[in-house]
Amino acid sequence: MKIQRTLPPTAAPIPLKHLLRAPIGLFSGVKYRDQLKEDLKDRFSAHAVFLLSSGKAALTLILKALAAGSRRRRVVIPAYTCFSVPSAIVKAGLEVVLCDVDPETLDFKFDELESLVDDDVLCVLSTHLFGLTADVARTKGLCGDHGIVVVEDAAQAMGAQSGLDQAGTMGDVAFFSLGRGKNLTSGTGGIILSFSSAITELMETEYRQVPEPPVRDTIFNWIETALMKVFIHPGLYWFPTGLPFLGLGETKFYTDFPIFRMDELRACLLQDWSDRLDQTNRARRATAHRLMEDLGLGRWDVRTSAISESAYLRLPLLMRDRSAKESACKRSREVGAGISPNYPTTVQNIPQLADRIAVRPVPG
Ligand SMILES: Cc1ncc(COP(=O)(O)O)c(C=O)c1O
Repeated sequence: MKIQRTLPPTAAPIPLKHLLRAPIGLFSGVKYRDQLKEDLKDRFSAHAVFLLSSGKAALTLILKALAAGSRRRRVVIPAYTCFSVPSAIVKAGLEVVLCDVDPETLDFKFDELESLVDDDVLCVLSTHLFGLTADVARTKGLCGDHGIVVVEDAAQAMGAQSGLDQAGTMGDVAFFSLGRGKNLTSGTGGIILSFSSAITELMETEYRQVPEPPVRDTIFNWIETALMKVFIHPGLYWFPTGLPFLGLGETKFYTDFPIFRMDELRACLLQDWSDRLDQTNRARRATAHRLMEDLGLGRWDVRTSAISESAYLRLPLLMRDRSAKESACKRSREVGAGISPNYPTTVQNIPQLADRIAVRPVPG
């Protein structure tokens, strides 16, 4: 193990008082979950809210619910996204269809999306990658005539703003991830927001079959979250990064993830979430803007409107080529700068998907 100070990724803070109080959740029934649902409904003006054990679980449930009400099986996603997304599609028994991305915006290439949408497409995932807001309205415009549902993948963008709209409120149904390293965290966790009574009805039917997590899973998540709170410190982060079996920062394709309801301990950890989310996102933005100024980069936010604000889950840099990326990451490791490579490939190069998706050029 190499012992060296390393800047950790930005993590959402969890107040010590919430961490210490969370075990109360073992005895509080559904009190904290009910409160959380009400607060989420209020802030995002949602028709209904569902709380799950992870973002992947949330997406899988959305897809199963939509598929139960339709004969359509195709799900269009960006060719460059988190590997959890195709994992959830495969788990839901649906077909992954890739649309290339525009490297300038990380959103869809819209002329390509237009050629992909037809009456066999169940839904399109408009994705706010790295917290940079996608043009959900444009995706909706292309999907509307075909009766395609627009799912907003706001896993990385809780608290981001696009014009007057908050990320997670622009699609027909949306989800957030509360995983470690997201804008708000409960260790792991997922939130679904539904914006129509038809989708809510389908979701309720699926959600009824989702079990509560085993107590051991709940306690394990609490311990992991406490350890994260300690080791995310720059003076200590060398320790978990030096343990390769933890796989920190890796993105993996796997379908054997559990689908549980969110437990009370997680909901307890999320008390005061709305103010905390705004506070941490403000800090992320200030840091991102400062880094961009120092590096002489344009601001992403300018792209949409003066009041649009990314949630800056990451500050992505597009490198000239793979070797430039690798040498930047190598140098970062030497000096402990905390810069890391992002998803290693496009979705179509995930080996487990070799026989499942049509290979097509995705140069973006
Ligand atoms: C874009 C995107 N979608 C979905 C997910 C799945 O969320 P979770 O990790 O909570 O399962 C992630 C997780 O990182 C993500 O980045």
